[in-house]
Amino acid sequence: MDNPVSPRDAASSPDGANSSSRAGAPNGASAPVGADARAVGEVLLEIQGVETYYGPLRALSDVSLTVTEGTVTVILGSNGAGKSTLLGTIMGVLDGQPQCGTITFGGERIDGMATEKIVRTGISYVPEGRRVFPELSVRENLAVGAYTVRDRQSTRRTLDRVYDYFPLLADRQTQPAGTLSGGEQQMLAIGRALMNGPRLLLLDEPSLGLAPILVRQVFDIISQICDEGVTVLLVEQNARMALKVADDGVVLENGELVVSGTAQELADNDEVEELYMGTASTTSELGTAPYSSEQGARHDVDQES
Ligand SMILES: Nc1ncnc2c1ncn2[C@@H]1O[C@H](COP(=O)(O)OP(=O)(O)OP(=O)(O)O)[C@@H](O)[C@H]1O
Ligand SMILES: [Mg+2]
Repeated sequence: MDNPVSPRDAASSPDGANSSSRAGAPNGASAPVGADARAVGEVLLEIQGVETYYGPLRALSDVSLTVTEGTVTVILGSNGAGKSTLLGTIMGVLDGQPQCGTITFGGERIDGMATEKIVRTGISYVPEGRRVFPELSVRENLAVGAYTVRDRQSTRRTLDRVYDYFPLLADRQTQPAGTLSGGEQQMLAIGRALMNGPRLLLLDEPSLGLAPILVRQVFDIISQICDEGVTVLLVEQNARMALKVADDGVVLENGELVVSGTAQELADNDEVEELYMGTASTTSELGTAPYSSEQGARHDVDQES
């Protein structure tokens, strides 16, 4: 799509996503919340035959994936499957990687590009572990996120948008980010990533460590962000929640992409259900990779849905 809707555009034109409808969108009563009505565009991100190494260890093998503009795509997989490595590879934060393959964003090759340049092409990244600048206030953290944007008025509009998504941040503008709770820091990290006005937002485990009510809030906001025109590529272990807001999904196993399809296809896939949605008696209710500190939250969410 030639004219993407960034958060700042969305602020002035709240319903301004493109108008094409999604081919093959999941339907039926159990279709993912928000995903079925979403307007989508063309391929925004195309990954082809990517291989990423840590020294001699091959962490990604021949990974190919396309992300369509205006959608949420979820990457599922167990601990160590290579999910974070894939996001890091897209962002160019892993030295000399990918060693093979191509990554194209909006028609432009970005593999081998410096991370800062990748950010300027319109990709924002919230890495695992919600890294905020602890000494800086909430407002200062958000200002840092807007460093690629020169137009002060659009920065102001995006800031208002972020405060709309996360009213709590508006109330805590002067509070040092390091004193926010974990959930609040996650919201700040997402808000900061939006300040750049991205076309594509990469989120690595945004629900990790959050209480069930916050998990729901974060997924609602992800859905809303996408509905307003920002494409989202999301790593999640909370497959059940993620597949509700996602349009498409893939499963990584040992660095290889083993399943891909619509979110509905993944939700209907017995193996995905057994391994990542915790319905089989032989597996953890929380998937194959329980983080013990998170079990309570994930369990509660799964019970609710
Ligand atoms: N800096 C590194 N140096 C060496 N090996 C690494 C490094 N980072 C990751 N790895 C290895 O690469 C593989 C993929 O790791 P990655 O962090 O991408 O997995 P993940 O799917 O994100 O897992 P998790 O769900 O636990 O976050 C793992 O075997 C991991 O040990
Ligand atoms: Mg990870």
